[in-house]
Amino acid sequence: MADELKSQVAELRVDGQVVALPVLEDTAGFRAVDIRGLWKDARVYTYDPGFGCTVSCQSAISHVDGEKGQLLYRGYPVEVLTEHCTFVEVAYLLIHGTLPTHAQSEKFSALFNRHSMIHEDMRTFFRRYPERAHPMAVLSAMVVSLSSFYPEVEQTDEDIDIAATRLLSKLRTIAAFSYKKSIGEPVSQPSYKLSYCANFLNMMFSSPVTDYQIDPVLVRAMNQLLILHADHGQNCSTSTVRLVGSSGANLYASVCAGICALWGPLHGGANQEVIEMLKTIQREGGHVDKAIAQAKDKTNPRRLMGFGHRIYKTFDPRAGIVKKICTEVLARTGTRDPLLDIAMELEGKALADPYFIERKLYPNVDFYTGIAYRAMGFPSDMFTVLFALGRLPGWIAQWQELRRDPHQRIGRPMQLYTGPMNPAFVPIEKRP
Ligand code: CMC
Repeated sequence: MADELKSQVAELRVDGQVVALPVLEDTAGFRAVDIRGLWKDARVYTYDPGFGCTVSCQSAISHVDGEKGQLLYRGYPVEVLTEHCTFVEVAYLLIHGTLPTHAQSEKFSALFNRHSMIHEDMRTFFRRYPERAHPMAVLSAMVVSLSSFYPEVEQTDEDIDIAATRLLSKLRTIAAFSYKKSIGEPVSQPSYKLSYCANFLNMMFSSPVTDYQIDPVLVRAMNQLLILHADHGQNCSTSTVRLVGSSGANLYASVCAGICALWGPLHGGANQEVIEMLKTIQREGGHVDKAIAQAKDKTNPRRLMGFGHRIYKTFDPRAGIVKKICTEVLARTGTRDPLLDIAMELEGKALADPYFIERKLYPNVDFYTGIAYRAMGFPSDMFTVLFALGRLPGWIAQWQELRRDPHQRIGRPMQLYTGPMNPAFVPIEKRP
């Protein structure tokens, strides 16, 4: 629980009346004015489009410090977790609050195996999507469909564990199946013998005619990339999961909404957009200056994709790790990707440009991920699916935390109404 700072009270003067508002402080030292009584006491709301100054909940899952460039999961720096843990261990950490013991890890992994297959009837759904369907559309629809196959309501910790592992395991299978569908190949089933990431790569890239050689370097890279995406405070998709969950909606419905929010190009969809942007630069002769000029031009809607962040006003700690993974993957696969050279030139020039310096715009997690994914063999429309796969433990943990939060109420922001008031009603036959 965030502490109430008894010594500190914020005062707001409205219509000559002073309203005293408590100040809360979290474990990292960030403070928030508690305005819960504001409407009742002073008959005013607060106005904050985009919620840049609004704390919507108390959470013990992840912490982002945008000035220090720090990201913690349950207190552990993301750098430490990417170095020493698998994605499944980090999923356990986020969902349960502690790193697993050997026994807990084995039990958790066994649940992953048990729930990895998808229902035969659900498999038939894949046949009905058009070949060109974006895998995010398929992913979101399949996730919400899971609630019709598993309608039990999650009550106990055991139920939630089963729902969580079922969703984590099946999302991976659905992601691989939707890719196979998009290229017209038969699906490969998950295997009990393989770890979470090895299984995923195998389902993605093996076919009835070619065995996929599972490379431990790529499996490690996949684990690291998923860990880097696993949670990130109250970002757009996580807030969506919480908002939908706050109405009492089930886990699958809430996560489906999160997947849809993630799809947008300003959020998780940015990883696909970065590669499209780099390809455009390459097609037009490799000149990065035009992309930078367009991003700075306020009459042009284009932005420098993979740059900027609501919270980070310095380097996104995830971006540096992704850059390193990128070079390791390219070295392993023996790929020379000209898009990496373009990305590095773009990064260098943007970081030296006063527009980006003044606004504190740095590369974010999405800037280099696409290059690593390409080298591993993923097509660009799968990039946001990979983000969703990574973010899933965070969404589950946040949904679960919301359900246990004694302060939680249905999410219901207010508005300032700008429409007309009581215009004269004209019957339809008399309207011009
Ligand atoms: N290129 C050019 N200008 C930018 C960019 C950019 N990528 N990002 C921000 N700005 C400018 C913006 O135009 C504004 O300028 P001014 O003050 O002159 O009006 C200023 O910087 C502040 O931007 P903002 O839009 O108020 O910032 P925000 O916090 O609302 O938006 C953002 C954050 C991530 C949506 C934005 O930086 C952006 O659109 N970036 C590109 C898309 C992207 O890479 N998204 C991935 C985010 S990280 C992964 C994730 O969480 O999904």
